[in-house]
Amino acid sequence: MNPHPPFPSMPFMTAWAPLLHLFQGMLRRGPGSEASTLRALSLCPLPAHPKVADLGCGSGASALLLARTLQVPILALDADGSALDVLWAAAEAQGLLPLVLPRCGDIAAPEILPGSLDLLWSEGAISHLGWEPGLRIWRELMRPGGIMAITEATWFDPDPPELARRLWAEWYPGMGSEASNLAIARDLGLEVLAHFRLPRQDWWDYYAAVEQQCCRHAQTLGLAELIDAQRSEIETYRQTGHSYGYTFYILRKA
Ligand SMILES: C[S@@+](CC[C@H](N)C(=O)[O-])C[C@H]1O[C@@H](n2cnc3c(N)ncnc32)[C@H](O)[C@@H]1O
Repeated sequence: MNPHPPFPSMPFMTAWAPLLHLFQGMLRRGPGSEASTLRALSLCPLPAHPKVADLGCGSGASALLLARTLQVPILALDADGSALDVLWAAAEAQGLLPLVLPRCGDIAAPEILPGSLDLLWSEGAISHLGWEPGLRIWRELMRPGGIMAITEATWFDPDPPELARRLWAEWYPGMGSEASNLAIARDLGLEVLAHFRLPRQDWWDYYAAVEQQCCRHAQTLGLAELIDAQRSEIETYRQTGHSYGYTFYILRKA
Protein backbone atom coordinates (compact mmCIF):
# COMPACT_ATOMS: atom_id res chain seq x y z
CA MET A 1 0.00 0.00 0.00
CA ASN A 2 1.18 3.53 -0.72
CA PRO A 3 2.44 5.20 2.49
CA HIS A 4 0.50 8.23 3.63
CA PRO A 5 0.82 11.30 5.92
CA PRO A 6 1.82 12.23 8.46
CA PHE A 7 5.35 11.22 7.51
CA PRO A 8 8.00 11.13 10.25
CA SER A 9 11.18 13.22 10.08
CA MET A 10 14.72 12.05 10.68
CA PRO A 11 15.81 13.18 14.19
CA PHE A 12 18.64 15.36 12.81
CA MET A 13 16.11 17.60 11.09
CA THR A 14 15.29 19.32 14.42
CA ALA A 15 18.42 21.43 13.83
CA TRP A 16 16.67 22.85 10.73
CA ALA A 17 13.36 23.61 12.46
CA PRO A 18 13.40 27.43 11.96
CA LEU A 19 14.24 27.14 8.24
CA LEU A 20 11.60 24.45 7.74
CA HIS A 21 9.07 26.68 9.47
CA LEU A 22 9.97 29.59 7.19
CA PHE A 23 9.82 27.41 4.04
CA GLN A 24 6.60 25.60 5.00
CA GLY A 25 4.31 25.28 1.97
CA MET A 26 6.98 26.05 -0.66
CA LEU A 27 6.87 23.50 -3.48
CA ARG A 28 10.47 24.24 -4.50
CA ARG A 29 13.09 24.62 -1.80
CA GLY A 30 15.99 25.60 -3.99
CA PRO A 31 16.73 27.13 -7.39
CA GLY A 32 15.27 25.12 -10.27
CA SER A 33 12.34 24.98 -12.68
CA GLU A 34 10.23 22.56 -14.67
CA ALA A 35 12.06 23.66 -17.81
CA SER A 36 15.48 22.85 -16.30
CA THR A 37 14.29 19.49 -14.94
CA LEU A 38 12.85 18.55 -18.36
CA ARG A 39 16.01 19.73 -20.12
CA ALA A 40 18.11 17.48 -17.87
CA LEU A 41 15.69 14.57 -18.35
CA SER A 42 15.97 14.92 -22.13
CA LEU A 43 19.73 14.32 -21.75
CA CYS A 44 19.28 11.02 -19.87
CA PRO A 45 19.28 7.85 -21.99
CA LEU A 46 16.95 5.50 -20.10
CA PRO A 47 15.69 1.95 -20.53
CA ALA A 48 11.96 1.22 -20.74
CA HIS A 49 10.42 1.24 -17.23
CA PRO A 50 13.44 2.68 -15.42
CA LYS A 51 13.81 2.31 -11.65
CA VAL A 52 13.96 5.89 -10.35
CA ALA A 53 14.69 7.63 -7.04
CA ASP A 54 14.67 11.34 -6.22
CA LEU A 55 17.00 11.92 -3.24
CA GLY A 56 16.41 15.01 -1.10
CA CYS A 57 13.13 15.46 -2.98
CA GLY A 58 11.77 18.11 -0.61
CA SER A 59 8.11 18.82 -1.38
CA GLY A 60 8.45 17.05 -4.69
CA ALA A 61 8.85 19.66 -7.43
CA SER A 62 11.02 17.31 -9.49
CA ALA A 63 9.55 14.00 -8.23
CA LEU A 64 6.05 14.97 -9.38
CA LEU A 65 7.32 16.07 -12.77
CA LEU A 66 9.34 12.87 -13.20
CA ALA A 67 6.29 10.76 -12.32
CA ARG A 68 4.09 12.68 -14.76
CA THR A 69 6.64 12.55 -17.56
CA LEU A 70 8.05 9.04 -17.19
CA GLN A 71 4.85 7.35 -15.92
CA VAL A 72 6.87 5.01 -13.70
CA PRO A 73 7.09 4.81 -9.89
CA ILE A 74 9.38 7.40 -8.30
CA LEU A 75 10.86 6.74 -4.86
CA ALA A 76 10.86 10.22 -3.30
CA LEU A 77 13.17 10.33 -0.29
CA ASP A 78 13.72 13.18 2.15
CA ALA A 79 14.57 13.57 5.84
CA ASP A 80 11.81 16.13 6.37
CA GLY A 81 8.43 14.51 6.95
CA SER A 82 6.55 17.81 6.62
CA ALA A 83 7.91 18.19 3.07
CA LEU A 84 6.76 14.65 2.27
CA ASP A 85 3.28 15.54 3.58
CA VAL A 86 3.15 18.41 1.06
CA LEU A 87 4.42 16.10 -1.70
CA TRP A 88 1.80 13.48 -0.87
CA ALA A 89 -1.03 16.04 -1.00
CA ALA A 90 0.23 17.44 -4.33
CA ALA A 91 0.54 13.92 -5.77
CA GLU A 92 -3.00 13.14 -4.68
CA ALA A 93 -4.34 16.38 -6.20
CA GLN A 94 -2.55 15.63 -9.47
CA GLY A 95 -3.68 11.99 -9.64
CA LEU A 96 -0.07 10.82 -9.30
CA LEU A 97 -0.30 9.00 -5.97
CA PRO A 98 0.08 5.50 -7.41
CA LEU A 99 3.41 6.58 -8.92
CA VAL A 100 4.96 8.72 -6.17
CA LEU A 101 6.37 6.78 -3.22
CA PRO A 102 7.41 9.20 -0.45
CA ARG A 103 9.86 7.81 2.10
CA CYS A 104 11.47 9.39 5.13
CA GLY A 105 15.18 8.62 5.03
CA ASP A 106 18.76 9.86 5.03
CA ILE A 107 20.43 10.56 1.69
CA ALA A 108 23.72 9.57 3.34
CA ALA A 109 22.36 6.04 3.84
CA PRO A 110 19.25 5.81 1.67
CA GLU A 111 18.46 2.10 2.22
CA ILE A 112 18.07 1.48 -1.50
CA LEU A 113 19.30 -1.82 -2.87
CA PRO A 114 22.86 -1.40 -4.21
CA GLY A 115 23.09 -1.64 -8.00
CA SER A 116 19.33 -1.20 -8.43
CA LEU A 117 18.69 2.28 -9.88
CA ASP A 118 18.48 3.27 -13.54
CA LEU A 119 18.01 6.96 -12.69
CA LEU A 120 19.04 8.84 -9.56
CA TRP A 121 17.63 12.37 -9.48
CA SER A 122 18.65 14.99 -6.96
CA GLU A 123 18.17 18.77 -7.03
CA GLY A 124 19.93 20.92 -4.44
CA ALA A 125 20.61 18.18 -1.90
CA ILE A 126 24.06 16.73 -2.56
CA SER A 127 25.73 19.74 -0.92
CA HIS A 128 24.45 18.36 2.40
CA LEU A 129 26.89 15.48 1.88
CA GLY A 130 29.55 17.22 -0.23
CA TRP A 131 30.03 16.48 -3.93
CA GLU A 132 32.69 13.79 -3.64
CA PRO A 133 31.27 11.91 -0.61
CA GLY A 134 27.78 12.15 -2.10
CA LEU A 135 28.78 10.72 -5.48
CA ARG A 136 30.78 7.99 -3.74
CA ILE A 137 27.70 6.84 -1.76
CA TRP A 138 25.16 7.27 -4.54
CA ARG A 139 27.09 5.57 -7.35
CA GLU A 140 26.80 2.32 -5.36
CA LEU A 141 23.02 2.46 -5.82
CA MET A 142 23.32 2.55 -9.63
CA ARG A 143 23.04 -0.27 -12.11
CA PRO A 144 25.88 -0.36 -14.65
CA GLY A 145 24.86 2.24 -17.25
CA GLY A 146 22.58 3.96 -14.72
CA ILE A 147 22.23 7.75 -14.89
CA MET A 148 22.64 10.31 -12.12
CA ALA A 149 21.12 13.77 -12.75
CA ILE A 150 22.17 16.15 -9.99
CA THR A 151 22.20 19.89 -9.43
CA GLU A 152 25.05 21.18 -7.34
CA ALA A 153 26.07 24.64 -6.12
CA THR A 154 29.15 25.51 -8.15
CA TRP A 155 31.67 28.33 -8.53
CA PHE A 156 31.59 29.87 -12.02
CA ASP A 157 34.29 32.43 -11.33
CA PRO A 158 37.77 31.27 -10.23
CA ASP A 159 38.20 34.58 -8.39
CA PRO A 160 34.76 35.32 -6.89
CA PRO A 161 33.94 38.61 -5.12
CA GLU A 162 34.56 38.75 -1.38
CA LEU A 163 30.82 39.00 -0.63
CA ALA A 164 30.14 35.70 -2.41
CA ARG A 165 33.14 34.05 -0.75
CA ARG A 166 31.86 35.02 2.69
CA LEU A 167 28.36 33.67 2.02
CA TRP A 168 29.56 30.30 0.76
CA ALA A 169 32.28 29.95 3.40
CA GLU A 170 29.37 29.81 5.83
CA TRP A 171 26.99 27.56 3.85
CA TYR A 172 29.24 25.30 1.78
CA PRO A 173 32.96 25.82 2.27
CA GLY A 174 33.81 22.82 0.05
CA MET A 175 31.95 24.14 -3.01
CA GLY A 176 33.82 23.25 -6.19
CA SER A 177 34.07 24.59 -9.73
CA GLU A 178 32.59 22.81 -12.76
CA ALA A 179 36.08 21.63 -13.71
CA SER A 180 36.83 20.21 -10.24
CA ASN A 181 33.38 18.58 -9.95
CA LEU A 182 33.70 16.95 -13.38
CA ALA A 183 37.20 15.70 -12.54
CA ILE A 184 35.93 14.15 -9.28
CA ALA A 185 33.05 12.47 -11.11
CA ARG A 186 35.41 11.00 -13.72
CA ASP A 187 37.82 9.80 -11.03
CA LEU A 188 34.91 7.92 -9.46
CA GLY A 189 34.26 6.08 -12.71
CA LEU A 190 31.33 8.24 -13.83
CA GLU A 191 31.08 9.28 -17.47
CA VAL A 192 30.00 12.89 -17.96
CA LEU A 193 27.14 12.88 -20.49
CA ALA A 194 26.30 16.57 -20.16
CA HIS A 195 26.27 19.53 -17.84
CA PHE A 196 24.56 22.92 -17.99
CA ARG A 197 24.01 25.90 -15.72
CA LEU A 198 20.55 26.68 -14.39
CA PRO A 199 19.35 30.00 -15.81
CA ARG A 200 19.41 32.93 -13.40
CA GLN A 201 15.62 33.12 -13.68
CA ASP A 202 15.46 29.80 -11.76
CA TRP A 203 17.19 31.59 -8.89
CA TRP A 204 14.96 34.66 -9.07
CA ASP A 205 11.80 32.53 -9.09
CA TYR A 206 13.06 30.70 -5.99
CA TYR A 207 14.04 33.94 -4.27
CA ALA A 208 10.64 35.49 -5.08
CA ALA A 209 9.03 32.58 -3.21
CA VAL A 210 11.50 32.99 -0.31
CA GLU A 211 10.75 36.71 -0.10
CA GLN A 212 7.03 35.94 0.01
CA GLN A 213 7.61 33.62 2.97
CA CYS A 214 9.77 36.28 4.66
CA CYS A 215 6.88 38.78 4.38
CA ARG A 216 4.36 36.20 5.57
CA HIS A 217 6.49 35.47 8.67
CA ALA A 218 7.54 39.06 9.41
CA GLN A 219 5.82 38.86 12.80
CA THR A 220 6.59 35.21 13.60
CA LEU A 221 8.51 34.92 16.85
CA GLY A 222 12.02 33.52 16.54
CA LEU A 223 12.40 33.92 12.76
CA ALA A 224 13.67 37.51 12.50
CA GLU A 225 17.36 36.57 12.35
CA LEU A 226 16.73 33.89 9.75
CA ILE A 227 14.66 36.27 7.63
CA ASP A 228 17.53 38.80 7.72
CA ALA A 229 19.95 36.06 6.64
CA GLN A 230 17.69 35.05 3.74
CA ARG A 231 17.40 38.65 2.55
CA SER A 232 21.14 39.10 2.83
CA GLU A 233 21.60 35.93 0.71
CA ILE A 234 19.26 37.35 -1.91
CA GLU A 235 21.19 40.64 -1.96
CA THR A 236 24.46 38.73 -2.30
CA TYR A 237 23.01 36.91 -5.31
CA ARG A 238 21.89 40.23 -6.82
CA GLN A 239 25.41 41.62 -6.52
CA THR A 240 27.57 38.56 -7.15
CA GLY A 241 25.32 35.86 -8.67
CA HIS A 242 27.40 35.86 -11.87
CA SER A 243 30.19 34.15 -9.88
CA TYR A 244 28.27 31.06 -8.71
CA GLY A 245 25.11 29.10 -9.39
CA TYR A 246 23.72 25.61 -9.80
CA THR A 247 25.04 23.31 -12.48
CA PHE A 248 23.04 20.26 -13.60
CA TYR A 249 25.41 17.30 -13.99
CA ILE A 250 24.30 14.25 -16.00
CA LEU A 251 26.59 11.32 -15.18
CA ARG A 252 26.59 7.67 -16.21
CA LYS A 253 28.00 4.81 -14.20
CA ALA A 254 30.34 2.73 -16.32
C1 LIG B 1 17.70 22.64 -1.13
S1 LIG B 1 16.47 21.50 -0.63
C2 LIG B 1 15.97 20.86 -2.23
C3 LIG B 1 14.66 20.14 -2.18
C4 LIG B 1 14.10 19.72 -3.55
N1 LIG B 1 14.98 18.81 -4.24
C5 LIG B 1 13.82 20.95 -4.39
O1 LIG B 1 14.61 21.21 -5.34
O2 LIG B 1 12.85 21.64 -4.10
C6 LIG B 1 17.40 20.17 0.05
C7 LIG B 1 16.56 19.02 0.57
O3 LIG B 1 17.43 18.02 1.08
C8 LIG B 1 16.86 17.48 2.26
N2 LIG B 1 17.95 16.91 3.06
C9 LIG B 1 19.02 17.54 3.60
N3 LIG B 1 19.83 16.66 4.22
C10 LIG B 1 19.24 15.44 4.07
C11 LIG B 1 19.58 14.13 4.50
N4 LIG B 1 20.70 13.87 5.16
N5 LIG B 1 18.76 13.12 4.16
C12 LIG B 1 17.61 13.35 3.45
N6 LIG B 1 17.23 14.57 3.02
C13 LIG B 1 18.04 15.60 3.33
C14 LIG B 1 16.17 18.66 2.93
O4 LIG B 1 15.15 18.24 3.81
C15 LIG B 1 15.62 19.41 1.71
O5 LIG B 1 14.32 18.98 1.39
